[in-house]
Amino acid sequence: MKIFVSRKFPGVHLERLQNSGNEVHVCELDRPLEPEEFLERAKGVDAVLSFLTDKIDAEVIDAIGPQVKIFSNYAVGFDNINVPDTTEKKVLVSNTPCDEVNEAVAEHAVTLMLALARRIVEADESTKRGSYRGWEPNIFLGRSLRGKTLGVVGLGRIGTMVAKKVKGFEMRVLYNKRSPDPEAEKEFGIEFADLDKLYRESDFISIHVPLTDETRGMIGRDALSKMKQGVIIANTARGPIVDEHALTDGLREGKVGGAGLDVFETEPNINPELIGMENVVLTPHIASATWEAREKMGQLAVDAILKTLKGEKPENLVNPEVWEARRQ
Ligand code: GLV
Ligand code: GLV
Repeated sequence: MKIFVSRKFPGVHLERLQNSGNEVHVCELDRPLEPEEFLERAKGVDAVLSFLTDKIDAEVIDAIGPQVKIFSNYAVGFDNINVPDTTEKKVLVSNTPCDEVNEAVAEHAVTLMLALARRIVEADESTKRGSYRGWEPNIFLGRSLRGKTLGVVGLGRIGTMVAKKVKGFEMRVLYNKRSPDPEAEKEFGIEFADLDKLYRESDFISIHVPLTDETRGMIGRDALSKMKQGVIIANTARGPIVDEHALTDGLREGKVGGAGLDVFETEPNINPELIGMENVVLTPHIASATWEAREKMGQLAVDAILKTLKGEKPENLVNPEVWEARRQ
């Protein structure tokens, strides 16, 4: 069977795929592909190992051909794939959710909040510039996390892990999700809040919802106007959940005290105004970039393809109904 891998990825599992007895083509370019470049290489394959920089929709599926069985997406998020289109065309989609990714993203969200609260990046830049003159009582004053309120928007696996971690910092945690989670409340000592209350009472807000029509732009002018003066916002989910124009206005006016962003509204472009702001910490979509997470993502993405090609049901299907439909 033919398999297209649109980018190299770290760890041992790419080699396992290459040694699986299939015809595996790993794209040699090692950068996000233009749609035409992707199609040229994916045409006629049985399986694609895709990345979140690959846009997959009905047109792409038709161009690859009716033999394609699965898009195994090397990511937790799958907003790069038009899932209704794949389902309609009876092509499986899988993703790579796992504890290793959840841990990595949760750690990154907490890191961004700590970096902002304690002004780590500003202090580092100043120190490296040679500005340090010895201890001073009045430089780089930050804020302690203890006793502050963190609002977790979206209590999925990653949001839950963030809540659990900040409990170690003795923060109060409010969370919002579609339906309350009494078990998590009991286990971690966290409290459900509707979005208005979460915005009103949180000193820190960390975003952990997927990108959907409903969440696109949800952190916009209206949401920001309800937030506490000086709120610190971390986004390790997807860029378009935050309206970057509203955010930069909020940062400039002091309404928002700091923003830690790992994702951007129109990646890879970054609003130039954000780049010049001191109370902003930017990272290049690396929240899941730990060796542990990448290794496991590779394992899951490869397993899903090999199982599918052997006629076995893969794990982590985003559209499991397609598995049954393909049998009929
Ligand atoms: C990264 O953004 C992912 O969804 O895994
Ligand atoms: C996704 O963001 C999750 O919480 O699992």
